[in-house]
Amino acid sequence: MEEDGIPNHLQISMIRKLTKNDWQEWREIRLEALKKSPDSFLSSFEEEAKTSDNTWAEQLENSIKFGYFINAKIVGCCGLSVEKATKISHTGTLWGMYVKNEARAGGVGLALVNFTKNYAKKSQVKHLYLGCNAENHNAVKLYKKCGFKVYGTRPDYTKIGSKFYDDLLMMCEL
Ligand SMILES: CC(C)(COP(=O)(O)OP(=O)(O)OC[C@H]1O[C@@H](n2cnc3c(N)ncnc32)[C@H](O)[C@@H]1OP(=O)(O)O)[C@@H](O)C(=O)NCCC(=O)NCCS
Repeated sequence: MEEDGIPNHLQISMIRKLTKNDWQEWREIRLEALKKSPDSFLSSFEEEAKTSDNTWAEQLENSIKFGYFINAKIVGCCGLSVEKATKISHTGTLWGMYVKNEARAGGVGLALVNFTKNYAKKSQVKHLYLGCNAENHNAVKLYKKCGFKVYGTRPDYTKIGSKFYDDLLMMCEL
């Protein structure tokens, strides 16, 4: 994957937790994700496009989101929420996974899931969950490759336009 004419061997790639200073990049990639892959997320572009600048920054202060950067430009993201209540504090949820079209099929998604798993494990998470549109075969394949197993289905969980989609419940033991 060559970016800006910079040969692959000179590109700098990194994954890091986003901070409030990244709010413009976070807004850009999140809104692109919702617009270009409406079937992949529970939220919609129309809903989140109304979010104020302050709220985008606050979201990064108050939750865990990761960005995959190539030459300082964000090309992929995903979120992790860890439950606070004591009885379920060993559980977390991976959500909001998205890789820009031009960066796909190069291992970015795989790296983001594995990074999230490691971060979650260090945060004492034992069971990492996620939900995925049952028709999103590429994502299901990615998650299975990273050790997630399907443990249930929520029938007709999302309705997009007039079409209903099943949602697969997946879990990975860390
Ligand atoms: C799903 C998505 C995150 C994959 O990102 P990616 O960076 O292209 O994935 P990777 O290159 O790391 O691929 C890792 C594995 O995922 C699976 N996979 C990903 N894209 C695939 C495709 N187009 N066809 C088949 N398998 C695919 C494969 O198992 C692949 O491993 P392999 O190449 O050894 O077969 C990306 O396509 C995307 O952002 N899609 C739109 C948003 C979305 O669906 N998000 C998930 C919400 S639950």
